[in-house]
Amino acid sequence: MSKNSFDSGELNYLNILAAGLVHEIKNPLNAISINLQLLDEDLQDRNSERDTKMSSRVQLLQKEVGRLDNILSDFLRFAKKPVLHFEECDINGIIENVLDFIGPEAMQNSIRILKNFDAKLPKCNLDSNVIKQALLNVILNAQQAMPHGGELMVRTYQNGENVFIDITDTGVGIQKNKMDKIFQVYYSTKKTGTGLGLPTAKKIIEENKGTIDIRSEDGKGSSFLIKLPVYSKSKEK
Ligand SMILES: Nc1ncnc2c1ncn2[C@@H]1O[C@H](COP(=O)(O)OP(=O)(O)OP(=O)(O)O)[C@@H](O)[C@H]1O
Ligand SMILES: [Mg+2]
Repeated sequence: MSKNSFDSGELNYLNILAAGLVHEIKNPLNAISINLQLLDEDLQDRNSERDTKMSSRVQLLQKEVGRLDNILSDFLRFAKKPVLHFEECDINGIIENVLDFIGPEAMQNSIRILKNFDAKLPKCNLDSNVIKQALLNVILNAQQAMPHGGELMVRTYQNGENVFIDITDTGVGIQKNKMDKIFQVYYSTKKTGTGLGLPTAKKIIEENKGTIDIRSEDGKGSSFLIKLPVYSKSKEK
């Protein structure tokens, strides 16, 4: 009988194996990168046409080595089994932080950021560092979906035992038949995307006992709705 799934022990083993392999690849890659940089510096000293040509080839190699390194780093981030540090967190503050980070680039791309935060939002029990990463991945996608500008709207509100974060953009949108693909590992429609941003965000949100859903209209924009449980002392171990 053919087997197309792994049990958690096997997955764990595969994860460790893959992460080890990635580390092993990263070391020689680092050496290649340093040597390419030195080679490029040597070539800058001379002025022949041949050197200029070689220098541009070396720079191309450097770019590709950098891309490989990014792919490996994204993979490690995805495969890593995190040790989470749950704490009482202010979601509005975390989002504010992420928006500050992307602010300058958003402004350069004519993206208007609109915030609609519930000032009375209750605290959540989360690992703020990893949640920040998840929100950044979703917000970066929104930004990248609006290469010619647009609006990025971020709203927070409470409903019952949950806090909701609605991240809406007026970007390119997602076709209906692609909706179930976007959370798949390595699915990307971008030239330099690795396709790990959303799977990583989903994994993080679920590890923090939340969910992430999407609504999108092709050509009009997308909305990502993140649900996280409200902090409750009685739920603490
Ligand atoms: N807000 C959005 N608007 C339109 N398409 C989106 C949006 N968010 C995600 N997508 C689609 O989902 C795909 C997967 O997103 P994901 O973040 O996983 O990978 P990526 O952005 O391509 O690369 P990276 O690993 O650098 O994040 C994107 O390539 C894009 O096609
Ligand atoms: Mg992405």
